[in-house]
Parts: sequence; C-alpha cells; structure tokens
Amino acid sequence: MIYLDNAATSYPKPDKVLEEMLRCMKYYCANPGRGSHKMSLESGRAILNARQIISSFFNIKNPMNIVFTKNATEAINIAITGVLKPGDHVVTTCMEHNSVIRPLKLMEKANNVEVSIIKGNEFGEIDAEDIKKAIKKNTKLIVSTLSSNVNGIIMPVKEIGTIAHNKGILYLIDGSQGAGSFKIDVNELNVDMLAFPGHKGLLGPQGTGGLYIREGIKVCPIMTGGTGSNSESFAQPEIYPDVHESGTLNTPGIVGLACGIEFINSVGIEEINKQKHKLIKKIYEGIIQLKNVNVYSRVEKTKNSGIVAFNFNGILSSEISYIFDKVYNIACRSGLHCSPLSHETLKTIKTGAVRISVGFFNTEKEIEILLNSIREISENINKCLFK
Ligand SMILES: Cc1ncc(COP(=O)(O)O)c(C=O)c1O
Repeated sequence: MIYLDNAATSYPKPDKVLEEMLRCMKYYCANPGRGSHKMSLESGRAILNARQIISSFFNIKNPMNIVFTKNATEAINIAITGVLKPGDHVVTTCMEHNSVIRPLKLMEKANNVEVSIIKGNEFGEIDAEDIKKAIKKNTKLIVSTLSSNVNGIIMPVKEIGTIAHNKGILYLIDGSQGAGSFKIDVNELNVDMLAFPGHKGLLGPQGTGGLYIREGIKVCPIMTGGTGSNSESFAQPEIYPDVHESGTLNTPGIVGLACGIEFINSVGIEEINKQKHKLIKKIYEGIIQLKNVNVYSRVEKTKNSGIVAFNFNGILSSEISYIFDKVYNIACRSGLHCSPLSHETLKTIKTGAVRISVGFFNTEKEIEILLNSIREISENINKCLFK
C-alpha cells in the first residue's frame, strides 16, 4: 500500500524505534519509578533519557517539565481544563482540531468560560493582529494549532507567542501537525504549554504524546492516583512530572518515541522538511491544473506542513478515498478530519475533503503513482467507471 495518511499517524517508523521497543519489552520493561530493583531502575533511566531527548529537541530547560500522555488530545485536555477557571476568556482559531474545540466548548457550557474563535481567510490563514484585537481583560489563554490538520496551513505562532507574552496571557500550542518537521523552540516562540503527539511527525508509536508546561504555571491535574512518590499522602504530589503522571507509563512507547526523535536528529529536521515539501510541491503542481479539481492547500514551504487537501467538483471526498483504497491501493483520509470549523472556513463542510499527507519515507515514485491515479479518476469520473 502507498501510505499517504501521515497526518493521522506516521507510517512506517524508523527501524530503531521498533528494535528498541522490542528490546525494552524483552529485557527491561519493569515499572519505572515504582521499585528499587535493577530492572525498574533501568526502565526509569530509559524514561529519563526520553525526557532529556525531548527537552533538548524543543529547547526545554528542565526535562521534568515534560509530562507524558497517551496522545496529543490528553495533553491538550490537561492544559485547557487545568488552567481555565469560571469567568476566564480564551482566544482560539477557526482551524483547530476537535481536541481543542471540544474541551473549550465543554468549559464554555459547564464552567462559564468565554471562548472567542478567530476567523481566517479562504485558506484558514490567521492574522495575529485579529488575535490581539480579541484579547480582553479576562483573557487567560490563547490556544492555536501549529499547523492545520486539514490543509496544512501554518499559523503565525511566533507573532501570537509575542502577543501573548507581552500581554501576560498563557499560550498553548497544539503541535500535532508540524512537530518533527519544523523546529519548535519553546523559548523563542514564547510558548507556555506545548502539546505534542508522539505517533505523528515525531515517528514514535501510537499511545505516546506529551505536554510541556513552563515552570511556574499552575495546571490542576485531571487525574490523580499512584505516582510512586509521596505515597504516604492522600493528596496528589505537586512535583513535576508526577502531578500529571498518575498510573504506569507507557515505557516501551516512550522508549520508541525517544528513538523516533533521535532518528529525526540524525537526518536533520530541515532535511525532513525539505523532503516533505518536495513531495507536496509535486502533488500540488500535478493536480492544480486539473479542471475538475479544487485544491484547498497552499504550496509554499512556509505555508504548508505536508498536506494537500482537494476535492473533485461535486464528488464526496469519501468516494474518492474509497477509490484510492480499493482501486489504487493508496491510503489517504477523507471527510471532516475531526475539524468541522476548518471545513466551514474552506467551505467544504458538506463534502469534506480528500487529504493527502506525506511523510519523510514517501518517495517521488509513490507520488507519481498517486498523480497518475488522480489523472485517471479525473478523466473517468463522469463516466462513473468506478461505481
Ligand atoms: C491538529 C491536531 N490536533 C490534535 C490531534 C489529536 O492527536 P491525537 O490523536 O494524538 O490525540 C490531531 C490528530 O490528528 C491533530 O491533527
């Protein structure tokens, strides 16, 4: 199969990820932080090593300020529900995933939190000035994605970070799309909290993710329980990362995630970005001239994190992804991609969109096969050859 659904989860993973996960499961997968025997200490060291690798990757000073989660959604939920109180105001954008919008809408309904959603242009590009204009006295938090999971558009995160910093407002970035192909420096970007999945661009396994929380921010935990620390107390420890890490960690997954990031470091993030953009440009240029195709992504390297979203005129996106799968053995995603607001913005709420999302391991040959299949579909769509 030609796998072009990397925005959902990356595939394949570097060999080292699989090898180290297997080695962990075979030789040292005891419970980290829960015992003083050699194997527990070894898995504890592996977790610490992963924290260190992740912290230098995002230029985070203290590795203990990284909290491991099972995915980006959990990280975003910890951040949003952990800092907002009744009466607070939040500013976010029209290109967010439901993992941001749903917790915000829940807080709006149940906790009297006020939510402002900033609109973008026809590609969902946001003007940071519009975010600034929406700030009120009670604005506690700005949340934005780094890049859209629907069309790959990149948000002006540096400008938003500066605005938030100057106004003393917390800034949470959802780094789900872009972490692993763009340099994210939490200090340079003035990010207070960064949520990231381990299983997408960071090339780790599913079931991994994390949240960076800047030192000094009070984030109430959404879950309490065993941490292996302060066990004599009924109260959740306040020390990091224990406060947000109740229960046994996904040691093999976290070990795999660390190897995914080491792979990215060994190739170079700029190289990964270059390779992905080369493929995106090829796809874009191959389909933009087709008469019956509408493209919703931009092609510029600074405006696309690795996605081309498109539709054939008047055809449901799900029909096209079905044809890709059944006739051409190509994996991509259609529908609303858990982001209805983005589709309202792109005016594709009724059809959804076909989403091609490339990864570092995709090849030009695969893209040629994709383009040939798109041309074939384009020529035959009215003859209903595939129905
Ligand atoms: C922009 C964005 N945010 C959040 C998520 C949720 O990520 P996860 O599945 O790791 O919870 C996704 C997943 O596709 C995403 O694309």
